This record gives sequence, C-alpha cells and structure tokens, in this order.
Amino acid sequence: MRALQDRTILLGITGGIAAYKAGYVARGLRKAGANVRVVMTDAATKFVGPVTFEALTENPVGTDADFFHTGGGVSHVEIARASDLIVIAPCTATTLARLANGFADNLLSAVVLASRAPVLLVPSMHTQMWQSHAVQSNLARLDPARFRVMPPEAGDLASGDVGPGRFPEPDDILERAAATLGPRDLEGVTIVVTAGPTREPMDPVRLITNPSTGRMGIEIARAAQVRGARVRLVLGPTEVPPPRPFDAGSMAVSRVTTTDQMLEATRAALPGANALVMAAAPADQRPAAVRPAKSRKRDLPTTLGLEATPDILATLRPALAGLVVMGFAAETDDVEASGRRKLEEKGLDLLFANPVGGDQGFGDRPNEGFLIARDRETQVVMARSKADLADLLLDRLAERLPACGGTTA
Ligand code: CTP
Repeated sequence: MRALQDRTILLGITGGIAAYKAGYVARGLRKAGANVRVVMTDAATKFVGPVTFEALTENPVGTDADFFHTGGGVSHVEIARASDLIVIAPCTATTLARLANGFADNLLSAVVLASRAPVLLVPSMHTQMWQSHAVQSNLARLDPARFRVMPPEAGDLASGDVGPGRFPEPDDILERAAATLGPRDLEGVTIVVTAGPTREPMDPVRLITNPSTGRMGIEIARAAQVRGARVRLVLGPTEVPPPRPFDAGSMAVSRVTTTDQMLEATRAALPGANALVMAAAPADQRPAAVRPAKSRKRDLPTTLGLEATPDILATLRPALAGLVVMGFAAETDDVEASGRRKLEEKGLDLLFANPVGGDQGFGDRPNEGFLIARDRETQVVMARSKADLADLLLDRLAERLPACGGTTA
C-alpha cells in the first residue's frame, strides 16, 4: 500500500484480548514499508510483552514505565512529533474515554494529545460495552476532523457471545490506515471495475472458463477505495475476497457468473460513473446448448458446439461517452502491438498489455507489461506487485479525470 511507504506510524496498543492480534498489524505495516513505533498501555502489557513488538518493529517500544520515570528517555512530545499517523488497535473503552475527554494520564493518551497527526481508532470490546451509552457518547465527542473510527466487526467474541465487537482483519486495518493517511485524490470519483473470469456452463457440473483469479481488478478496486473513490466492483467467480467496504456506498460488489451477467451488471453500474476499468477476463465463447442435467460420461459429445458471448466493451460503447475507459490485454505474443490494436479497436483511453503464459500473468504474482495510452507514448512497466501496479494505473487514470483536475483530451 503506497500511502504507508516510508511513513512513521505510531501503533498504540491497549489492554484488550485482541492485543495479541496487534502483532499482525505491526508486521503488515512494516511489510508495507512503514517505520512503526509502538506505545503500549500498562494494561496491554498484561496481554502481550513489549519484546514481541520490539522484535516485529525493530524499534524500542514505549510503555508507561517510560512515562512515569525520572532521568530523560522517551518523551511523549518526541513520539508525537515523529508520527505521521496514529493507529490505536485495539482501542479499549477506557482509552476511548481518555481520548474523548482529553486525559493525558499515560504515555499513549499524552502522545495523542501532543500530536496533530490523524488518528485511526480500532475499538474492540464486548457488544454490550460497544453499544453502551458511555462508549457511544465518547465516540460522538471525538473531533471528526482528526479521528477516524473503524467500527468493530460482528461475529464470535472471546466471551462466547456473538455480536459487534470483534477486532477486524489486520489487512482491513492497513487499508483504513492508508485511507486515513491519504492522499484521497480520487474523492468524488465513481469507478466501475470488472474483475475475474466468467463461467459458461455446458451442464450443471461442466463449464468453460479461464485461469483469471480477479486479483488485478480487486487490487484496483482496493486502491481506488483507499484513495477516496466510490467503487462498483463487478466480480466473476473467484476465491479471492473482494475489498471490504469502508462505509455504505464506498464499495458495492456485484457477483456474476456468466459473460451475459457481467455485461448486464456492468451496464447497471455505469450511470453516474466517471471511469470504467475492464480488468475482467470474460469467457469469449459458450456452449451453444446447455444441458439442464448432468451428462453421463458415456453421453458426452466428442465435439462441442460453441457460440460467441457478447464483447462487453463493444456492446457498452455507446454508454461510455464521457467516461475514462481502461482495458487490459493478456497476450502470449506481440504484446505491445496487440495491445495498441485493441486499444484502438475498442475505443479505449488506456490499456495495460501484459505477457501471459508459463509463470506470468495470473494469480498472486508480480506483473509487468506496457501501459498504452490513446494519445501518449507507451510506458514500459517493470515487474511489480499487483497492488503497486494498481496504484500506478490509477495515477494514469486520474490524470484524465476532470474531477481530479485531469483532462480527457
Ligand atoms: N473484454 C470484453 N468483453 C469480452 C472479452 C473481453 O469487454 N467478451 C474486454 C476485457 O475485459 C479487456 C479487453 O476487452 O479489457 C481485452 O480483452 P481480450 O480478451 O484481450 O480481448 P478480445 O477482444 O477477447 O481479443 P482476442 O481474443 O482477439 O485477443
């Protein structure tokens, strides 16, 4: 996640059972290229030891022993100044009460008070505590310009109860952290993204499809939401989970199976959109006849009658005027030339053409290729993760979006 790269992030850990999961957050932040400093409350150190976080972050960990001592050492002002973002995960009801009321009676609350950095709170507690009047009114007292709150997930709790209160997945926390830090350069923009393969059934147990996992489109959807866009993701069958919505309207996912369904879901997602990113790999053909029941092996045909599925970009072309449209082309040969031809034939603004075959192209692997633009020189893109590539492609898209100060000319 590009927003986290080379930034200093203070991870505040408070005393809840989810404190042990903060280790995954620290590790994820480090993996994303952040410099991570940890401050733990006294209560947090009863659940996990500071040594764990020292090892994970390669930085000294601040505790209340450092705060209530004589003779110099770590200062809350020094930590506050160094932090670009403060993430408190998990955040207990007690820490929330401290922050809402301006207490500075331990190192973490003093750092928050002494800093101007944005703060992401990840509250995690028992459902009744979360829903209590005290907790909800403390949440309402936080300065909305500075504090972001990631509401707890609903699910199984350590107490054995079920309800809202669960600590979210560490990867989801990283996305929120990146969104809190910004830049939110796609705010006000609505992007339709298609991703994944489609499946064309021959009978209820046999089908035509391709090895697309949908990862490229899912990473684009994820990065776009982090950068402030409203995303409508049309997703074919894949095991890769789509990004979690930050709030109602920030990520609408519609699941489809066939190319026909993908066409209709994409058409339905277009009104009011500013851009279409067609990263899906729709099956180009389907069996001409679909058998309603499973065919027995002995009855299987030796040849299969096929018919073409609709070309989604071509079919929707009249509805795409005024949108910035990006396509993809996975090619085994003449990658750049085939990509340029498709860009022109399909009337696209941008197209990313990449080689496939062998180990390249599909799944959770680095991607490389050519970024072809209608009116600009082709950019050679060296191998990089699909998450990094997603940000680069969105940069080029944003340059063309009038809503982002770009031009479609
Ligand atoms: N595409 C589409 N509808 C289809 C197939 C593809 O809109 N039925 C889109 C893809 O999402 C991609 C672009 O068209 O953005 C190029 O896809 P590709 O499969 O490379 O192109 P085809 O038109 O199928 O060309 P060919 O099979 O001749 O390479």
